[in-house]
Amino acid sequence: MSMRIISLVGARPQFVKLFPLSRALRENHQEILVHTGQHYDDELSNIFFRELELPVPDYNLEVGSLAHGAQTGLMLKRIEDVLLFEKPDLMVVFGDTNSTLAGALAASKMQIPIAHVEAGLRSFNRLMPEEINRVLTDHLSDLLFCPTPTSVNNLRAEGLEEGVHLVGDVMSESLEHCLPIAEARSDILNRLQLKPGDYYLLTMHRAENTNDPKILANILTNVQKLDKIVYYPIHPRTRYYINKYGLGSILGARLRLIDPVSYLDMLVLEKNAEAILTDSGGVQKEAFWLKVPCLVLRAESEWVEMLASGANRLVLSELNQLPQIFMDMKGNKSSQDLHGDSQIKTSVRIKELINEFY
Ligand code: UD1
Ligand code: UDP
Repeated sequence: MSMRIISLVGARPQFVKLFPLSRALRENHQEILVHTGQHYDDELSNIFFRELELPVPDYNLEVGSLAHGAQTGLMLKRIEDVLLFEKPDLMVVFGDTNSTLAGALAASKMQIPIAHVEAGLRSFNRLMPEEINRVLTDHLSDLLFCPTPTSVNNLRAEGLEEGVHLVGDVMSESLEHCLPIAEARSDILNRLQLKPGDYYLLTMHRAENTNDPKILANILTNVQKLDKIVYYPIHPRTRYYINKYGLGSILGARLRLIDPVSYLDMLVLEKNAEAILTDSGGVQKEAFWLKVPCLVLRAESEWVEMLASGANRLVLSELNQLPQIFMDMKGNKSSQDLHGDSQIKTSVRIKELINEFY
């Protein structure tokens, strides 16, 4: 039976997660693509649609940047208008952003079933806006697609078992598909005049790191103590706070700030980095899958399997020892086999489970 399914996205990592699933869903169903407009700069949004050849959204709700409550509230209102008009059979939401929560809330109030891709992740840190978004979205969802065994256990501990499925990770599918394309097409190493292994790659944008001037200054100061140049495609949130707190003067020659890069360029930068420093959920995973050591700029992570392997390590509490930590980590290799049965693509499993649900 062909269904009308809304896929709801809004922020950069959601375009990467959408890529494999949209293709799979469109083989059998009518996908209605809704972009909330949470991210709107070309380099955070449109470039992903062009590069990944994602379908043009049927709706762009143009919500833009607002305080959390106002942003989520405006999304809720505009998503509800779309739902009233489209009357879909299912709403698919991804990850843990304000767009995710708004989509789940809007659908739940109209009794439209919800599928959550990347369900069950927990940092157990309720100061993170993402943690609130995840917990609420999971408890509103009918189908919970979990990427890791830990995420299944987290849901069980909260009493959620029905509709919970371990399916693997759509982001690893995106990476697997796109890496060869990236290596063939991206000229980012040439453009930046970089050689493989000659640099570190930094991404940092989490509110916990950017909004406190002391934490932000501490991170920026310490990453410059590494022995090679650090390339930093900087998120506009972080650029805003560096300016607001007058931290420009601590940016030395070893830290190279560049605009956010496209997904294909990012994969090439990640793969060829000596190590990756990041507070991003997606980048932690990509580092792991690419077998590049990852220093996680956080006090805790949802991706605990990756920490347990030793390939990724939390470093926020020992920032002044980054060079030593990196030396210690060098021998640890990641394994790609953490996500169960890799024979069936995650997107196909999700599609089949959606079919069975009806
Ligand atoms: C959001 C998500 C976060 C995710 C990140 C991915 C929430 C609560 N947070 O954080 O989980 O990891 O996206 O990148 O949903 N801005 C621009 N241009 C844009 C978008 C934003 O300049 O296209 C600036 C604005 O100043 C804005 C700030 O970045 O206030 C933050 O944007 P917002 O979407 O609120 O959160 P992110 O930090 O991007
Ligand atoms: N990414 C990118 N360009 C960049 C930074 C990140 O293409 O300059 C990609 C990255 O490879 C990953 C996703 O964006 O696929 C992660 O998004 P982000 O770090 O913004 O969000 P998070 O995963 O932390 O929610």
